[in-house]
Amino acid sequence: MPETTHAIRGPALTFTGDVLAEGAAAVRYESDALIAFADGRITHFGPSAGVRPKLPPSTVVREYGRHHLILPGFIDCHVHYPQLQIIGAYGEQLLDWLEKYTFVAEQRFADPDHARRIAEIFLDECLRNGTTTMASFCTVHPHSVDAFFEAAERRGMRCIAGKCLMDRNAPEPLRDTARRGYDESKALIARWHGKGRALYAVTPRFAPSSTPEQMEMTGALWKEHPGTYLQSHVSENRREVEWARELYPDRRDYLDVYEHYGQLGPRAIYGHGVHLTGSELARLSENGAAIAHCPTSNMFLGSGLFDLKKAVDAARPVRVGLASDVGAGTSLSMLKTMGAAYQTAQLHGNGLSALEAFYLATRGAARALYLDDRIGSIGPGMEADLIVLDLKSTPLIEARLAGCDSLDEALFVQMTLGDDRAVATRYVAGKAC
Ligand code: GUN
Ligand code: ZN
Repeated sequence: MPETTHAIRGPALTFTGDVLAEGAAAVRYESDALIAFADGRITHFGPSAGVRPKLPPSTVVREYGRHHLILPGFIDCHVHYPQLQIIGAYGEQLLDWLEKYTFVAEQRFADPDHARRIAEIFLDECLRNGTTTMASFCTVHPHSVDAFFEAAERRGMRCIAGKCLMDRNAPEPLRDTARRGYDESKALIARWHGKGRALYAVTPRFAPSSTPEQMEMTGALWKEHPGTYLQSHVSENRREVEWARELYPDRRDYLDVYEHYGQLGPRAIYGHGVHLTGSELARLSENGAAIAHCPTSNMFLGSGLFDLKKAVDAARPVRVGLASDVGAGTSLSMLKTMGAAYQTAQLHGNGLSALEAFYLATRGAARALYLDDRIGSIGPGMEADLIVLDLKSTPLIEARLAGCDSLDEALFVQMTLGDDRAVATRYVAGKAC
């Protein structure tokens, strides 16, 4: 029997296309919307007066007032759940930070109970911040993937994740081998990819921590499993770029390493891309791979400033989504991530409007992940992952809003001053949580 229809009523914002390319034409705002859902999917969306008569009389409607805003759930395109406990670790840039903090934290995941504990805390924290989908790295341990997907399944969340592949330049307990990494990933794909809302990502950490043999087998594995994702890192830090060149001297640039080993294409997500050249961006645009823009991380690790405007240049636009990159990033809040993306754009002398930033954390991120037909916007047939922002979540925000007279301005205040307190409610596949 179909589930009872539930509905929420209030001001709602969603995007109908690519805001970066189309501007206001891709924005849909309804000041008094009714959004109905059943069996995890949205059935109706439109002005309340028009939608109400079409709903079954038994529909349960929850109403949100004028200082609320209903949005699609936020999407974080690149994050490391095992690094939850090393957010804000002092003093290092990427390669030393990995050695000093990250690899230490990840070794604790040899204990499955620890993995389960952190996965629970991580997903609850994401939901509190309004993030309903994320692409997360796990550790080298297959049970770290099981722990993550089991916790996501309990919450009904659509998540992407995968076991880290690393067979060199990491401490021995975190290394697999090309063969073992392949076999373990294959078994995890069989266990999880497409189970409920789970999606698997083949996860070579980054080219410097895999041998050419592992890179070869990883590309082959991804090819053998159409529909799966591939996530990694590229051109985050200057020393890392140099190191990748030294380790793969026959490749013309860092991106070419991944290209050579068959790791680029639709559903490939690369974190950072801060130092990519024009030629590398053009190739990403052509092959349909995405960049996860991680502004808080790039500032915190002193990696550099990603040039969003250059990346999405209409002449050869790259798919870009926003990402926290926790633990290098400093917050799981996509509002804070948007605020940092704005500051990064400012340091390049460019703007980033609130609507563009919200797009990059919702429909734009879904598009980067090739999931825009299922999540990231509000419309009939879409999965019912929704959040409700309280636009007056702190006294300061309330005072600041008094002087705002446009939606764009009110949203900009949220991304500058807002955090988890701004997320009043969230619905995952139609269930309030
Ligand atoms: N490059 C390789 N591994 C990592 C990681 O865990 N975090 C970040 N920010 N960059 C990486
Ligand atoms: Zn990362």
